Amino acid sequence: MSKDLNSTTASAESPHRHISFTAHYTGYIWFQEGISHAALASNKGRWLAKLVSPLETWAESVIGDSMRTTLRQRHALIDRQLDRFLSKYPDAQILEIATGLSPRGWRYRQKYPNLVYIEADLPDMAAAKRLALSQIETPAPRIEAVDLFGDGFQHLLETLDSTKPLIIISEGLVNYFTKDMLNDLWSRLATGLKQFSVGVYLTDLYPEPITRRLAKLIWNSSKILKVMSRSAFAFHFVSPTEVIQAMQAAGFKQSHIFQPSDSASQNEKSQDTASEHLGDLVWVIESQV
Ligand SMILES: C[S@@+](CC[C@H](N)C(=O)[O-])C[C@H]1O[C@@H](n2cnc3c(N)ncnc32)[C@H](O)[C@@H]1O
Repeated sequence: MSKDLNSTTASAESPHRHISFTAHYTGYIWFQEGISHAALASNKGRWLAKLVSPLETWAESVIGDSMRTTLRQRHALIDRQLDRFLSKYPDAQILEIATGLSPRGWRYRQKYPNLVYIEADLPDMAAAKRLALSQIETPAPRIEAVDLFGDGFQHLLETLDSTKPLIIISEGLVNYFTKDMLNDLWSRLATGLKQFSVGVYLTDLYPEPITRRLAKLIWNSSKILKVMSRSAFAFHFVSPTEVIQAMQAAGFKQSHIFQPSDSASQNEKSQDTASEHLGDLVWVIESQV
C-alpha cells in the first residue's frame, strides 16, 4: 500500500476539493474487488471501507444492494461501453476526468500499449495518482491537474488530436453537483467534444431511487455523503427521458441510458434502451455530440 497516497492534502484552489476524499474510498473498493493495484489503495481508503463495511453487508443481505454493488455495476458497464467504442474506433483518444484512484487508465494502457489514455483530476488528487502510478507504470502516463469548471479543461483538449475520435469518461462525479452546475459541466463537455472528429461522453449517474423502503435509506445515507464531501450531492433525475433532455440542452445530439437490469442493452447490436426507470440504483449514460 502506498504511503504517498495518504499524505495528500486538499487543494487550496478548488471549491470542489472536499469531494476528493471519496476517491480514496472507491479506490480501495477497486483494490478489494481485485481490479486494481496496491499502489492505488490508500490507508484512508481502507479506513473508510472498514467503517462502512457493516452497513454495506447489512444492506446487501436486507435490500440486496449496497454502495459497493453499484460501484461494481457502474465500473463494469463503463468498461463494456468503452470496449465497444474502442472496437469501433481503435484510434480513439480517451480522457478520464475526475479519475481519482481508479485503475481503469492503468488497466487499459496495459491492455493497449499504444492507446492515448489521459487522466485528469483536481491538483492534489492528480499529484497523488501520478505518484502512485510512478511506482507501477512506465513510461509515466499523462495525469493532468484540471478543475473541470476552469479554463484548464479547454487547454487540455487543445493538446489532443482533433482529427481523431475522443471519448470523455467520468465516474462517480455528476451527483456531487447542483443541476445548474451539472448543466454547466455537461455544456463544457459537449462544446469541447464538438472539436473532435467523433465526440462521446460516457458517465455513470445515480437516478432518484424509486424503491420506497430503499429510497429512504439511500436518501439518508446521501445526506451523510453530502455533509462529508461539502458538496451539493443529490439525485436529479427520475426517468431516462429527463436525462436525455438534459443532455440535449447541454448540446449532445444523441444519448443512450444503460440500466444494469435492462437485458436489451446487453446486446451490442441493439440501440434500444428502456425508457422507464427499472429500479436500478445506478445508470450509465453514453452521449454523442
Ligand atoms: C467519488 S470520486 C470518483 C473517483 C473515480 N472516478 C472513481 O470512480 O473511483 C470523485 C472525484 O471527482 C474529483 N472532482 C471533484 N470535483 C472536481 C472538479 N471540479 N474537477 C476535477 N475533478 C473533480 C474528485 O477529486 C474525486 O477524485
